[in-house]
Amino acid sequence: MRQAALLANFFERELKTHRPKSVAVLGCAGRNGFDRIDPAVTQRVVGIDINPDFIAVARERFQRQLPGLELINADLQEGDLNVEPIDLVFAALLFEYVDADVVLASVQRLLRPRGILTTVVQLPQVDVPDVTPSPFASLQSLASCLRLVSPEFLCERAIANGFISGESFVAATMTKSFQVQHWRWLGTGIVTAVCCDAPHSFSKPFVDEIRLLAGLGVAGNAHCGVTVQH
Ligand SMILES: C[S@@+](CC[C@H](N)C(=O)[O-])C[C@H]1O[C@@H](n2cnc3c(N)ncnc32)[C@H](O)[C@@H]1O
Repeated sequence: MRQAALLANFFERELKTHRPKSVAVLGCAGRNGFDRIDPAVTQRVVGIDINPDFIAVARERFQRQLPGLELINADLQEGDLNVEPIDLVFAALLFEYVDADVVLASVQRLLRPRGILTTVVQLPQVDVPDVTPSPFASLQSLASCLRLVSPEFLCERAIANGFISGESFVAATMTKSFQVQHWRWLGTGIVTAVCCDAPHSFSKPFVDEIRLLAGLGVAGNAHCGVTVQH
């Protein structure tokens, strides 16, 4: 199976598994399986790519077929994207070209809390060029920027950036293999109430604010201290 078809199959699998109302494809290039989207299920489709030519190709090919298509020509490393939160973010063969931490921070801003990120990275292969010959000349010119990223490295960076790791598997074409990894973004925490009480009583009253002391707990609270057990 050819690389483009395999990547489109991964994308279709995500769409069928999660049935997202909204999806973003990072580094979408001109195709990336947009033809596998069912617009009755996935009503918003956001494609982002740094290359304006790819965005133009994707617009030409899919605008009529996907009424909810938003195509954005942007550098995912700039961090200034302003997009309504998305259910599923799909990033295939992108982390090979970008700073993982910077783009994971962009993904956090794109995803709704509990949203899913699916990544595909290429695995090292002996005697095979890392970039598959492509009819898109600009994809070919990307070869000089490509730097393979190990799934272990991506896992470490994703966890450090607050993602929870899910299913991960390897799939291959005749010449190349890829690691597909799933992540869930839990979102930033929201404090709904804070409580504090100096005496060790049954329940603590709500207060307007608390002061956290590193290694100790809440200032002025009965349970504040190095050796307090509960
Ligand atoms: C190897 S291609 C992968 C294309 C497509 N995702 C696929 O799986 O066939 C990498 C894509 O990422 C895009 N890209 C690279 N760096 C980027 C960045 N900083 N911001 C947005 N897109 C970027 C490139 O323009 C290109 O379309």
